[in-house]
Amino acid sequence: MRTLITGGTGQLGRALARLAPAGIQVIALGSHACDVTDPAAVRAAVETHRPDLIVHCAAMTDVDGCERDPRRAWQVNALGTQHVAAAAVEAGARLVYISTNYVFDGEAEEPYHEFARPNPISIYGQTKLAGEEIVRALFPRHYIVRTAMLYDETGRNFVNTMLRLACERPVLRVVADQFGNPTYAADLAEAIWRLVRYPAYGTYHLVNDGQASWFDWACETLRLAGLSTPVEPIPASAYTRLARPPRNGVLASLAAPALGITLRPWQDALKRNLDRRARLPEPPGTA
Ligand SMILES: NC(=O)c1ccc[n+]([C@@H]2O[C@H](COP(=O)([O-])OP(=O)(O)OC[C@H]3O[C@@H](n4cnc5c(N)ncnc54)[C@H](OP(=O)(O)O)[C@@H]3O)[C@@H](O)[C@H]2O)c1
Repeated sequence: MRTLITGGTGQLGRALARLAPAGIQVIALGSHACDVTDPAAVRAAVETHRPDLIVHCAAMTDVDGCERDPRRAWQVNALGTQHVAAAAVEAGARLVYISTNYVFDGEAEEPYHEFARPNPISIYGQTKLAGEEIVRALFPRHYIVRTAMLYDETGRNFVNTMLRLACERPVLRVVADQFGNPTYAADLAEAIWRLVRYPAYGTYHLVNDGQASWFDWACETLRLAGLSTPVEPIPASAYTRLARPPRNGVLASLAAPALGITLRPWQDALKRNLDRRARLPEPPGTA
């Protein structure tokens, strides 16, 4: 099976390429090789590589950046998805679209399952939801995979930010009243590879098990890394940012366990991530 990955240079794209099962040929393209806002570039990539499956990871993931430049966010996340979905239709390839917990407003008291009603409160969430709607309308052979709080060893993510700030600041103040599911990109990639073995098209929530506030996540990261920098809880109202994350951004899954797909607890995944990063070679130029 030939699989084309858009956003192949991102956290999830890299994990998908690294963890592809035997027999799956992966073509992972970043924005230079396949700018999803350019329909001709998307068509050319699909015509060149003739994939059986497209995993569409490419997105403008800077949620505050989406508020600053909504036009760009709509171009990349919504229109870009339209171009990828149209190319999948033409090529007869199945399509995986990666979406987000930011499609929900976070006002529910319970975790959100796949059939909960989206109501995004940020440009990022609105543009990603538009991507979902385009995929559903254009192409039945799709998997929409919503995930949350993604991190890997090297990307621009919360874990790396906390590890850096813990070495730079005497104390960290972290929001304690917004919740989600910290999800290790490698675990998500493995779950996606399991999912696409089934022709069970539809919407799936794939996140590491359990839930955490940003504060919980920061504390566990520093504890596992052996860093003693104090972490203080603060309310979201004390941390000004352009985009408003959902207060309750916790995802639950009805659909994935029905296929036998579950992800390990987020604390175990975080430990695995920190163990793995300890074994990675130092990037060139670091002391
Ligand atoms: N990060 C999270 O916390 C999170 C949470 C929930 C859902 N998601 C979703 O999960 C998916 C993967 O996220 P991630 O964290 O792996 O992303 P990431 O590390 O931020 O990488 C984004 C990827 O998108 C590519 N990209 C950006 N603009 C593009 C364009 N115009 N054309 C083609 N490619 C473009 C980037 O390519 P270049 O490197 O070439 O710029 C990069 O490969 C996204 O769809 C995101 O919405 C992420």
